[in-house]
Amino acid sequence: MDLRDFRHCLGSFATGVTVVTCSTGEGKHGLTANSFTSVSMEPPLILVSVDRKTKACSYLQDNAFAVNILRGGQEALAMHFAGRPNEELELKWQDGEYAPYLADSLAVIECVPWQAYDGGDHVLYLGEVKQYRFEQGEALGFYTGQFFTVPMLARV
Ligand SMILES: Cc1cc2nc3c(=O)[nH]c(=O)nc-3n(C[C@H](O)[C@H](O)[C@H](O)COP(=O)(O)O)c2cc1C
Repeated sequence: MDLRDFRHCLGSFATGVTVVTCSTGEGKHGLTANSFTSVSMEPPLILVSVDRKTKACSYLQDNAFAVNILRGGQEALAMHFAGRPNEELELKWQDGEYAPYLADSLAVIECVPWQAYDGGDHVLYLGEVKQYRFEQGEALGFYTGQFFTVPMLARV
C-alpha cells in the first residue's frame, strides 16, 4: 500500500481537533489528536488512538487524562502540541480533579484509564469519563491536512 496515498484518503474524513493532556513525572504533557471518538454511554467511555512513537503514548499508560476540544482559531495551540513548540503561546493550564487541562478549550472531558488495546503502530486508549464541561462556540476542524473553523449553526 502507498502509505502517503492512504494518509490522503484518511484525510477525507473531516474531524475536530483535540489536545490530550496528562500529568507526568516531568510536568504536564499535551498531544494534539484528531482520532478522538466517543465509544459508550453506559459506562461513559471515549477513545484516543496514540502513535507508539510519541511521548504521550508512554505517559498515558495507566494515567488519567483530559481531552480538550479546541475552538476555532486555536490552530497555533494545535501545532504547539503537535511537535512545533511555540514559546510565545500563553498556555492556560488548569488543574482538574483528575488531570490537567487547558482552560480556554471549547470542551474538556476528564477521564481515568479504562482499557488500552493494541492498535498496530498505535495504542487505543479508552478512558472512563469522570467529569466534563462544554460551551457553545466555533470549533476547530481538520480536513485534507488543513485546519478550518466549524461555524456555529443555527438550529432548525
Ligand atoms: C491535526 C493533528 C492531529 C493529530 N492526531 C494525532 C492522533 O490522533 N494520534 C497521534 O498519535 N498523533 C496525532 N498527531 C500527531 C501528534 O500530535 C504529534 O506526533 C506530537 O508531536 C506527539 O507529541 P509527543 O511525542 O510529545 O507526545 C496529530 C497531529 C495533528 C497536527
